[in-house]
Amino acid sequence: MVCTVVVGGFWGDEGKGKVVAYLALKDNINIAARAGVGPNAGHTVIHKGKAYGLRQIPSAFVNENAKLLIGPGVLVNPKVFLEEVEKTKTKGRIFVDYKCGIIEEKHIKADAELKKRIGSTGTGCGPAMAERVLRKAKLARDIEELKDYLADVPLIVNEAIDNGDNVLIEGTQGFGLSLYHGYDYPYVTSKDTTASSFAADVGVGPKKIDEVIVIFKAFPTRVGAGPFNTEISKEEAEEIGIVEYGTVTGRRRRVGKFDFEIAKRAVMINSATQIAITGIDKLDKKCYKVREYEDLTKKAKIFIERVEEELGVPVTLISTGPDIFDIVDLREEDYS
Ligand code: GTP
Ligand code: IMP
Ligand code: MG
Repeated sequence: MVCTVVVGGFWGDEGKGKVVAYLALKDNINIAARAGVGPNAGHTVIHKGKAYGLRQIPSAFVNENAKLLIGPGVLVNPKVFLEEVEKTKTKGRIFVDYKCGIIEEKHIKADAELKKRIGSTGTGCGPAMAERVLRKAKLARDIEELKDYLADVPLIVNEAIDNGDNVLIEGTQGFGLSLYHGYDYPYVTSKDTTASSFAADVGVGPKKIDEVIVIFKAFPTRVGAGPFNTEISKEEAEEIGIVEYGTVTGRRRRVGKFDFEIAKRAVMINSATQIAITGIDKLDKKCYKVREYEDLTKKAKIFIERVEEELGVPVTLISTGPDIFDIVDLREEDYS
């Protein structure tokens, strides 16, 4: 039984939602706790033919037996949260920590300046985080509409780990967007986005983490301004069939080639124990929906081998399409 943190290795949108949803079902996750900044993130989960763009609810909601939590380090926009609870029909098993910071309308207004200057998502996260640091923010415990959902998230998560449950900590954004380690300040988000911070967001200490899965897109993407050394032109991206739009902002994502230098640093700073590669079908269309390693093409296998060799960590999950079960799972352990 394990406690796993799932994190993004590039600039977000690596497919954390899809991978988390898969793990939630496959490993029969008991507890899933969302970490990260807040509703600036959008995880896409395609479940039973329906697509969800989740900004607050853990993607593990697809497992109806999982308890869903939002850690005290995460910002909550009550309106976005309540709408998603409705859409996912998760009332009764979703809980928000008393101490989550709250995003208010004034934060969304103030974010307009950041949107212009660095290309923020405009969701109010940066200004709400700043207000929290100034010790002026409202917390979830102050919000009447959230009172049915309040809980002591760190206590629930730690008790579950001590009981031997399978616990998943769902990170958001990606290594390249970290306030401390990203590429490059000021074109980053409003806090650190590495595994240690995600564990802290939900109140779990470093010795209780068993696995850190860092997810890399075969072709990284970036939304908003900021350096992107391996970026390719729009036309080149179209030629290889990569046209993506942001889940939250609808902006077209910039596309680049795999950046081994940044990936190496993401592995080091996250203390990765496993790597997941998503979008291998974009590297080679013939890999679309493949579920067995043997059925991947030579081109895909050469790429996976190079990733393992250069990064020194096993690639255990290879995503071959957007659906939850479009995946090659090479993990040896049986989590069931
Ligand atoms: P953030 O928390 O915002 O960083 O998002 P995320 O990591 O959950 O990723 P997001 O869902 O925003 O973007 C990933 C996109 O790629 C979505 O449209 C997914 O449906 C899609 N996707 C995920 N895995 C694969 C894959 O292996 N192949 C293809 N073709 N699409 C994928
Ligand atoms: P903010 O987090 O809204 O302040 O935006 C700061 C930067 O992080 C911008 O470049 C955003 O596009 C980017 N960003 C924040 N969250 C995500 C995410 O979940 N996926 C992709 N980019 C993100
Ligand atoms: Mg996203």
